[in-house]
Amino acid sequence: MRLALVTIVMTMLLLEEIKADIQPQKNFDEQRFAGKWYRVGLAYDSPGFVPYRDKLRISMGVVEPQSNGNISMTMWSIRSTGCRSKVYVYEKTATPGVFSYFSVRHNKVKDITVVETNYSEYAIVLKFKKMNRDYSQVSLYSRTQKLRPEVIEKFKAFALARGFPKESVLTPPPSSESCPSSEN
Ligand SMILES: *[C@@H]1O[C@H](CO)[C@@H](O)[C@H](O)[C@H]1NC(C)=O
Ligand SMILES: *[C@@H]1O[C@H](CO)[C@@H](O)[C@H](O)[C@H]1NC(C)=O
Repeated sequence: MRLALVTIVMTMLLLEEIKADIQPQKNFDEQRFAGKWYRVGLAYDSPGFVPYRDKLRISMGVVEPQSNGNISMTMWSIRSTGCRSKVYVYEKTATPGVFSYFSVRHNKVKDITVVETNYSEYAIVLKFKKMNRDYSQVSLYSRTQKLRPEVIEKFKAFALARGFPKESVLTPPPSSESCPSSEN
């Protein structure tokens, strides 16, 4: 009797945990995810990033699926040295929509989950699922520099629900310089 009860309680706890786990976009399609994106939102609570919050600008990225199933993402950003690009390779995992990559800066393997995307308009991407102030980020990507307020609210609500404090959830303004400069 008691054992049965314990089993039921444990099963319920397990189910709760599964429910709390973040699932990637259903039927994630790499090819449709490819192409140009703007990062129009970022939730990041690292204490080291606080002084840079006001300096954050919308940045551009290009996603290219590779034949082996990994994807590369080229991100542009304005540095003191000008407009610079950086290429990140996200390695595929057994779960479509979930990638992993090795962060040189943190010397750590991180998971990347494309939580929700409709490919033609927006994508919400979670980095480092297990909440950690220095490693975890939520990014909001958009096909254009301006996104519907409903989608921005969805991104904010998702980040807050993950435990990011309000002041760490940012929707930066566009950059005054175009970067890359050929961009129009
Ligand atoms: C990409 O994928 C293959 C497996 O298909 C893997 O061996 C390779 O190391 C991956 N990583 C990078 C950075 O290309
Ligand atoms: C998906 O994107 C299109 C814009 O291309 C938009 O009109 C549509 O409402 C979006 N769908 C959802 C479910 O947000």
